[in-house]
Amino acid sequence: MEASLLSSPAGIKKILFSEEQIKLKVKQTGKLISSEYEGKPLLILGILKGSFIFMADLCREITIPCETAFITAESYHSGTESSGAVRITHDIKQNLSEYHVIIAEDIVDSGQTLSKLIRMLDKMKPLSLSVYALLDKPSRRAAVISAYHSLFTVPDSFVVGYGLDFNEQYRNLPYIAEIY
Ligand code: IMP
Ligand code: MG
Repeated sequence: MEASLLSSPAGIKKILFSEEQIKLKVKQTGKLISSEYEGKPLLILGILKGSFIFMADLCREITIPCETAFITAESYHSGTESSGAVRITHDIKQNLSEYHVIIAEDIVDSGQTLSKLIRMLDKMKPLSLSVYALLDKPSRRAAVISAYHSLFTVPDSFVVGYGLDFNEQYRNLPYIAEIY
């Protein structure tokens, strides 16, 4: 941990979850999903851009057949405060009514992105809809999200790495860290 902290980029304050910790949790989650959805048509829906690394790793820990698709959701335009407005765009080829859908999201913060997404996807009548979020930041919740799975809980601070950014930087860090 010490060595990676020393070699970490400017602005990194504290590593919250190491590459090894993330790998283990993602592996366990993939195993869980594989047994729960065995024999069912499964679509993993990654929310871009933040979930791209989580999605890629999670998919490879899923041992049953599954399809993938992506949705882009933008709410942070800069800085660390949510703008509140969420813009959603997608080009999903699959007919959701034929799939059990899992949303792979980077972090549930205010919950506004997820609640808007869930409302939109519900209208497409998937066989079932569940959420796997890499991180949960419960301190800032504004929208009620009925049920979701999260791999880690983070404190009320801005976190980066493993797909999450600050002004588009830090996404490539293999760990999750607090900045400043
Ligand atoms: P919401 O506030 O739950 O709608 O979250 C919107 C989006 O803001 C998330 O999907 C993330 O992409 C981003 N976000 C929220 N908190 C953080 C953070 O601590 N670090 C990086 N991105 C964040
Ligand atoms: Mg996001």
